[in-house]
Amino acid sequence: MTDRELVLRALDNRANAYAPYSKFQVGAALLCADGRVFDGCNVECGSYGATICAERTAFVSAIAAGEREFAALAVSSSGEDFCMPCGICRQFIFELAPNLRVLCANPNGEWREYSRDDLLPHAFEL
Ligand code: THU
Repeated sequence: MTDRELVLRALDNRANAYAPYSKFQVGAALLCADGRVFDGCNVECGSYGATICAERTAFVSAIAAGEREFAALAVSSSGEDFCMPCGICRQFIFELAPNLRVLCANPNGEWREYSRDDLLPHAFEL
């Protein structure tokens, strides 16, 4: 899958977001080293702290399916700007995907690429 296809898939996945509280729809698409792609969207909860981001739903699906090696993650939102992962998602990426390329897209299908260390320098590590 090309970077463009991964970004388009993340844009499509926004439509699956369950975001009745923020109305901010986020879509993600995670490309694994073996070529499989896992979809993600944000899933909100009236107990707000239980909300899970699009990036982490994609990771959780992939891990549950047995994946451990990740190549690229595209993320997009219903906002106008390039969609950047939140701090918790950056920590997830740091631990689970050291060589990940993160493609942060805007609604026009343009993207900016970041590495794990671009997103979370001086990270906490257990
Ligand atoms: N959100 C994501 O899905 N990913 C991020 O990296 C940032 C935030 C979601 C969580 C919540 O449903 C909504 O965006 C507003 O914060």
